[in-house]
Amino acid sequence: MEHIWLTVLGVSGLLTLAVLMWPVANRLNFPYTVMLAVVGCVIGYAEHALETANLGIVSDLLGALHALDITSETVLFVFLPALVFESALAIDVRRLMDDIAPILMLAVVGLLISTAVVGWALHGVSGYPLIACLLLGAIVSATDPVAVVAIFKDLGAPKRLAILVEGESLFNDATAIVVFTILSAMLLGQSDAGLAAGVLSFLKVFIGGVLVGYLLARLFALLMMGVGESALPKITLTLTLAYLSFLLAEHYLHVSGVMAVVTAALVLGARGRSILSQHAWHELEGVWEQVGFIANSVIFVLVGIAVPGIIGDITMTQLTWLVVLLVTAFVARFAIIFGMVPVLSRLGWAQHVDVGYRAVMFWGGLRGAVSLALALAVMENEAFSPEVRTFIGTLVTGFVLFTLAVNATTVQLVMRMFGLDKLSPVDAAVRDRVLVSALGNICDNLHSAALSRQMRSGLADSIARPYEERARDRRQEADAASIGHRDWINVNLRKLTLQEQQIYGHYFDQGLVSSDIARLLFSQSADLLDGIKSGGEEGYRGAYERALEFGWQTMLAAQLQRRFGLSGPLARLLGNRFEMLQANCMALRELAEDSTGTDLLDAEVSEEVDTIVQDRLHAHVAALECLKAAYPDYADRLEERLLGQIAVRLEHAHYQKMLSGNIISKEVYHDLVKALHQRASSDRPRLDLGLDADRLVAQMPYFADLPGERQREIARMLRPRLVLPGEQVITKGDKGDCMYFISSGAVQVEIEPEPVILGRGDFFGEMALLSDIPRVVSVTAEGFCDLLALMTRDFRTLLDAHPDLRDTIERVAAERS
Ligand code: CMP
Repeated sequence: MEHIWLTVLGVSGLLTLAVLMWPVANRLNFPYTVMLAVVGCVIGYAEHALETANLGIVSDLLGALHALDITSETVLFVFLPALVFESALAIDVRRLMDDIAPILMLAVVGLLISTAVVGWALHGVSGYPLIACLLLGAIVSATDPVAVVAIFKDLGAPKRLAILVEGESLFNDATAIVVFTILSAMLLGQSDAGLAAGVLSFLKVFIGGVLVGYLLARLFALLMMGVGESALPKITLTLTLAYLSFLLAEHYLHVSGVMAVVTAALVLGARGRSILSQHAWHELEGVWEQVGFIANSVIFVLVGIAVPGIIGDITMTQLTWLVVLLVTAFVARFAIIFGMVPVLSRLGWAQHVDVGYRAVMFWGGLRGAVSLALALAVMENEAFSPEVRTFIGTLVTGFVLFTLAVNATTVQLVMRMFGLDKLSPVDAAVRDRVLVSALGNICDNLHSAALSRQMRSGLADSIARPYEERARDRRQEADAASIGHRDWINVNLRKLTLQEQQIYGHYFDQGLVSSDIARLLFSQSADLLDGIKSGGEEGYRGAYERALEFGWQTMLAAQLQRRFGLSGPLARLLGNRFEMLQANCMALRELAEDSTGTDLLDAEVSEEVDTIVQDRLHAHVAALECLKAAYPDYADRLEERLLGQIAVRLEHAHYQKMLSGNIISKEVYHDLVKALHQRASSDRPRLDLGLDADRLVAQMPYFADLPGERQREIARMLRPRLVLPGEQVITKGDKGDCMYFISSGAVQVEIEPEPVILGRGDFFGEMALLSDIPRVVSVTAEGFCDLLALMTRDFRTLLDAHPDLRDTIERVAAERS
């Protein structure tokens, strides 16, 4: 680091040049990254041409750029983690998972096939060793989404297309690097060639990377929650997470660094909104967008600069090989995308991918930073023979340049050809209605604005006229749009669900729900969105009904309580349910009151949507009431806590208003808020399930009058059990192993024609024990019930000790049968 100033000059000069290309690229409607590579090439040639001239700062700058000499390590360790993290962070994990089958298939199997095809073909024409040719194949098979995704953003391409392309390239970068490492070890004789060993080490490296990324991201999520309120340290932690996960995986553990970074970013992306406030999350996205932009700008110019040196003196023979390489690589990609993807969907392993999407995926498979970094790694490595180094360097650079020059500039055409730059019919209809309502609004307000400013009335008319005309045209178009009633309902349910999600975000920001609950609420909303996507109204209803059911975790926790008397997990899960239902009901009520956007709907649609949301609210309220009935004290305490938190929020909002109104200074504000934070944090109270046998026995009418000593003796024979609403406690026809006393709650004995309800103090399940017969009928819990179970072996003992109880039980059983 002798000339650090030279490096600084180089980087800042380069960035300045790069961003100056931004408006040019926009004006020419040309991909920015391609523009950068072109500029890089020009600089590269200028360096050669002006080597001897002394032009002051210009020569310094050129010298500095020359000194920046891009190496494979710079690309891999400096740029790649940032680029990969940035693109993975922006991906919606759920949507990625929807298409994970085709993505992994293309990224892993597709890449391997392409490597093999290219390798064999090049081996055939060039006569270079097969392994070297396979290495080349792997290098040129890693796609880079940067240029394409930028184009997608410009043209408003469908989200799914972007996920397919970006997902594929993230995973195939990882695959390519792994295959590259394995093949170079073989080529250098450091490992014995063997397919099985290769596959095994591939799996190890791939999965290892995922694990490292996952664990590190979870650890960082904890750290982020621990560093206090401010967003700055949290955002900084995400930057270090990107680099540390790469280094830890790649350098220390020798597993896939790219997979580690991808996984870390996906985990963070999925959890982030319940770690950072919404505002901080936007800041984080902004920071990463900036980092990605800088990294891309620098890398593409550097790539350009390196070009003249590498392919300056390309020979005719090399050019022919390049043609062979291009043809085989594209044919292989074509075959994979058009052959493999449809087969996957036919097998039911993947959702259908339209021809247009496939065409764009095929043509938009550009090669970029990763291919070049790997080629550089070969060129820098003295262990490879000089011929192999030039062979790979020239061909890869040529290939990358070709895709930048030809594919990147024409992929827009392909998108237009398949109409992928247009809005879907539903989106177009929404746009038209928004336009109509906005234009109408403008006309109304123009007149009053003119009036209040005492302007000539004709003025407003003349300004408003074009708007009115546009509104009329649009209205006709909107009316003509043939999207159906169902579509409108779905659009609206989606909108409401997104608003609901946002409300939960606010609750989290305001400290009304904890990070864990926020995460659960977000995933609930995501399930609702999935439901709407796949089944419209039915899907929505199905999704919220599922959300209200007791999941497997609760069932498991209930079993833990019953088998081992562990009530902690069950209490925690029921506490979560309490809080979630509370938040659900609050949010749904808020939604019902808020009517933004309803003017886009006709009365019929909005009424139907209202009904759906009301139904959902009722279902949630009922579930909450059911919990409250079982734990009234706890419900009180939770509500008290919620109200306390709302009070703190109100206080905070008040100070904020004073601050923004310049009534108090920042110093005063911070002082006030500091005191507030100290009061604000309160953990959720513990839910006591009250499953204490002594207490429950003392509550039972049969035992209440007995002396304490006897009660305790009985309590030792009875096992407290909490059963969940709707749970089947006894199944008809089963063998009986115990009977139950109801300490609180109610059960339904499902006898024909009218079921019988048993409540506190009643017992059931005695018939099977008395007469040693199968259960005569099923019994289901009405709400939450505390039961006391008496096992068969204790049954006799208890009845022998209490003849009057025996009489009662026998009498009731006789009556029942
Ligand atoms: P068992 O057969 O062990 O399991 C089902 C239980 O339902 C049964 O014992 C009784 O406790 C209860 N049961 C059956 N019939 C009636 C009835 N008519 N009224 C109330 N409870 C009943």
